Amino acid sequence: MFNLEKFDIKLETEFIGRNFIYFEKIDSTNKFLLNEKNIDDFGAVVLAEEQTAGHGRMGRTWISRPERNLTFSVLLNRELEKFKLSHLNLTAALSVGMALENLYQLSINLKWPNDVLIGKKKIAGILIETTIQGEKIERAVVGIGVNVNQEFFHGEFEIEPTSVRKEIGSEVSRERLLAEILNIFEENIFMLEKYPSKILEMWKARCKMLGAKVKVDDGKNVKVGKFIDIDDEGFLILLRGEKEEKIAFGDVTLREHSE
Ligand code: BTN
Repeated sequence: MFNLEKFDIKLETEFIGRNFIYFEKIDSTNKFLLNEKNIDDFGAVVLAEEQTAGHGRMGRTWISRPERNLTFSVLLNRELEKFKLSHLNLTAALSVGMALENLYQLSINLKWPNDVLIGKKKIAGILIETTIQGEKIERAVVGIGVNVNQEFFHGEFEIEPTSVRKEIGSEVSRERLLAEILNIFEENIFMLEKYPSKILEMWKARCKMLGAKVKVDDGKNVKVGKFIDIDDEGFLILLRGEKEEKIAFGDVTLREHSE
C-alpha cells in the first residue's frame, strides 16, 4: 500500500501534490479529475492503486498491475492560456524521464510525443485530457502511468513494456519516485512558462529517434521520412524528399529498412 508519510517527506513542491487524493480502486484517475469540478486546487494529484478503465492515447487501454506501479493524474486549471498542450505533454514526459535518471541513473529515451522508453521498451506514458469552457481550456488533466515494480507483463503491446524493477533488478520506493516526478514537473512547468525553448532543448537531448528515418501513423495515413526536428510548437518536423512537413499527432516508429 502507498505510504503517504514517505511520499510527503520527499515532496518539495509549492502546489503540485499538495492536495493529494488516494483511491484503492477507481475507473480512471483522469476521468475522475475531469469530472469532479469541486476539486479545484491547481496541482491536485489523484493516485489510484488500481484503475478499471485506465486509458491511453489513441483509444488504447492502460494496463497496470495493482499496487506495483504508479497511475496518477495532475490537475492544471489556472493560466492555461500561457501554455500549449503540446508543450505540456513534452514537459510531463521529460519530467518523468529526469526523475528516472536522477534516482536510478537510467538512460532514458523520449519518444515523441509522450512516451518514456528505456532503449526500445516503454516504461511510462502520458495522456493529457481537457475540458473546454467556451473557447478556453478550463481543466487540463495530465495522466501519467509509470511501470515501477511490475516484474512480468502479459498480453500484447504496441511497444514492449519494461519497469524500473526490470531495468535495475530491485524494487524501488513508489513514494520516492512519485515525489521526485512531481518536484521536477513543478520546476519544469515554471521553466516552461518563462523559457519554453529550454524545455524543448532538454526534451530533444533525450530523444534518440531525432535524425532517424521514421514512419508516422496518425490512424489514417502513414508517412515516411526523416525526423529532423521538433519545432517551437512541439510539432514533429518530418523531411519527405525536399519538403518539411509538420506533424501534430501520430505514432512514430523507426523505419528499420530503407525503401
Ligand atoms: C499512453 O501511453 O498512451 C498514455 C497512458 C496514460 C495512462 C495514465 S494512468 C493514469 C491516467 N489515467 C488514465 O486513465 N490514463 C492515465
